[in-house]
Amino acid sequence: MDWKKRIFCGELTEAHVGSVFTLMGWVDAIRDHGNLIFIHLRDRSGIIQVVFDPLYRRKAHWIASELRQEYVVEVEGILRRRFEGTENPHLATGNLELLAHRIKILSRSKALPFQISEKAMVYGEGLKANPDNVEEELRLRYRYLDLRRPSKQELFIKRHKIVQKIREVLNNKGFLELETPILTKSTPEGARDFLVPSRLQRGKFYALPQSPQLFKQLFMVSGFERYYQIAKCFRDEDLKVNRQPEFTQLDIEASFVEEEFFFQLIEEVLWEAFLIGGVELKRPFKRLTFRDAMELYGSDKPDLRFGMEFREATHILRGTSYEILRKVLDRGGTVKGFVLRGMASELSKNLLQNEYALRIVPLLGGKGMTWMKYVGGTLQSNIVQFFRPSELEALIDRFGMRDGDVLLLIGDEKRESVNEVLGRLRLHLAQRLKLKPEAQFMPLWVTEFPMFELKEDGLSCYHHPFTMPERKDFDPKNTMELLALKSRAYDVVINGEELGGGSIRIHEPELQRKVFEALGFSEEEVKKKFGFFVEAFEYGPPPHGGIALGLDRTVGMILGVESIREVIAFPKNRSGVCPLSQAPSTVEPEQLAELGISLREGLSVALEVASSGESEAVDKESVLHVARLSRLLIEDWEIESYVKELGSIIGYVRMLNQLPTEGVPVTSHVIPMVNVFREDIPRDMEEKESVSRAVIQNAPEVEGDFFKVPKILEG
Ligand code: AMO
Repeated sequence: MDWKKRIFCGELTEAHVGSVFTLMGWVDAIRDHGNLIFIHLRDRSGIIQVVFDPLYRRKAHWIASELRQEYVVEVEGILRRRFEGTENPHLATGNLELLAHRIKILSRSKALPFQISEKAMVYGEGLKANPDNVEEELRLRYRYLDLRRPSKQELFIKRHKIVQKIREVLNNKGFLELETPILTKSTPEGARDFLVPSRLQRGKFYALPQSPQLFKQLFMVSGFERYYQIAKCFRDEDLKVNRQPEFTQLDIEASFVEEEFFFQLIEEVLWEAFLIGGVELKRPFKRLTFRDAMELYGSDKPDLRFGMEFREATHILRGTSYEILRKVLDRGGTVKGFVLRGMASELSKNLLQNEYALRIVPLLGGKGMTWMKYVGGTLQSNIVQFFRPSELEALIDRFGMRDGDVLLLIGDEKRESVNEVLGRLRLHLAQRLKLKPEAQFMPLWVTEFPMFELKEDGLSCYHHPFTMPERKDFDPKNTMELLALKSRAYDVVINGEELGGGSIRIHEPELQRKVFEALGFSEEEVKKKFGFFVEAFEYGPPPHGGIALGLDRTVGMILGVESIREVIAFPKNRSGVCPLSQAPSTVEPEQLAELGISLREGLSVALEVASSGESEAVDKESVLHVARLSRLLIEDWEIESYVKELGSIIGYVRMLNQLPTEGVPVTSHVIPMVNVFREDIPRDMEEKESVSRAVIQNAPEVEGDFFKVPKILEG
């Protein structure tokens, strides 16, 4: 192999015409004209056409006749201009070709599971293969082939450039790239840990880091002042489009700085990173407090690309004769809403009432929805007659209604509930009505998060327990006070996606102890979990803070991919399985014995599966597969619920299968059978008529014996 003489296919230009070159790469495509054989030779830099002419070099032509797609070859030849009319505008080297002297087959390929070549050999054929037409599971099973495609390689070349640019920005600002351990102790980021059993310390486990949080703070105690790391993090949580069990963070920490330092730093990092994708972010980023984000958009990571901000109508509708809302308001509730500008003709009454008010809003957690269209100077809906004209006027004024607008109102006794439901409804409608401009990027800082939140199992931190609260004089036993306490945490959000989060940290041991106390940790627990960390803070820790950007999410957004799996070289699928290596897998009993681990088997496992609703038999991929076959569009939460419900059914059946039935006589029917089929006995006509009259007497519209209902689907 003449590697020293090699030149990359994509480097050849008109200036090289007439010289002899050695190229190496993959046979992307072949066209055999009998007398002439053409191939597209592909390496990482690009593609060039190679011609084998038997009259020029017989042996090379003879070897080329054996070539198949994805064979690896070394070719030597002379570069020439293509004949006029045979140029290929789809290739950067489309007006050149190499006339081969010599070819050597370096390796062969089996028939491919899917098409790799993306470039047509003949002008007019355009793009040959659309990589996304291949089932993702198959692509991931043969990910090394999927990654051979130029369009996929481009994503990773860009990812590399983004990472290098980030390093450049941080290096220039005096940050040190340092590494933290992977085999470590649990970090409290809110997910489950992946555990690694220790052989040397039998019965003990390492935890894979959910983030380098504790160690990066210790770097500050060590006096490194500015640290960063492209860090692998591991979280055992339910997977979504933008979540992987193993992902990468750009992790940053700095001493003697405050919030503003991180805002400026991250804005610069993101500005440079997005520029690699051809996007110029607008700086400074907008800022919203958590409270304003919730009040205006019902989300702590609002998508600002489309308005639809919420406004309050509580004061307008207090005392209204529209009973549903009045009852809510009488009980101290809230009514808020938003306007869909100019959407009156897109949203039929039927869609608003039967689909949204009756079906979708309850699914989004709301009790109902009131809608009104502003057409021809009046508000129209199925219930406007219940409102006083002064109330309608005030609504028009409050929401700045213009002709063709649609107003949606939600009322609930709980204000948070109104915000959350409106927030989900806003996103649902924006998606459905295609209101999200694809090419627009709206970065945002969300600040002043609550320090604590209430979860099913008690008080927990909104970020993590090392976040500095806004004040130190809180009572760690007063839950109401704790829930009202804000923190010095900040998230960076773009287009409704949380790209990163961080905070100014606690550096006083006393305050840290108070936060642990508020969380209900006993001194013993603190010592066991974070003893080493808390102790370090007794030795002069500097004031410090930090942030972490989800690198996969950031790169994914810059490159406009549908899922972060596209920008992770070997990702896990939605069930947390690596389709290529089939990890996780079972291990040999000897390996387990060495670690002092034994698996629980039999009935107890089946029982556990049945009660937890988790089952290997049903994974997210299978649910998605069936949904796809049935042409059903299902959302993440629906997939999760199918996995859970079906899993528990199968788990239950497995459990039944494991019941000890030895010696139990075979029974064909547990319950004596009764034939339930019978001939219908026709009622006499008069009775039938009186029954149907009674049934339909309140129907708004009747045809014959039938109750007439509006059509569900409108054209
Ligand atoms: P946080 O938990 O917010 O903060 O994580 C930071 C960012 O990491 C990304 N991220 C993920 N990306 C892919 N898959 C996942 N499962 C996943 N989980 C999180 C998100 C998120 O914004 N230690 C703190 C940071 C700090 O305080 O400095 C932390 O990890 O983009």
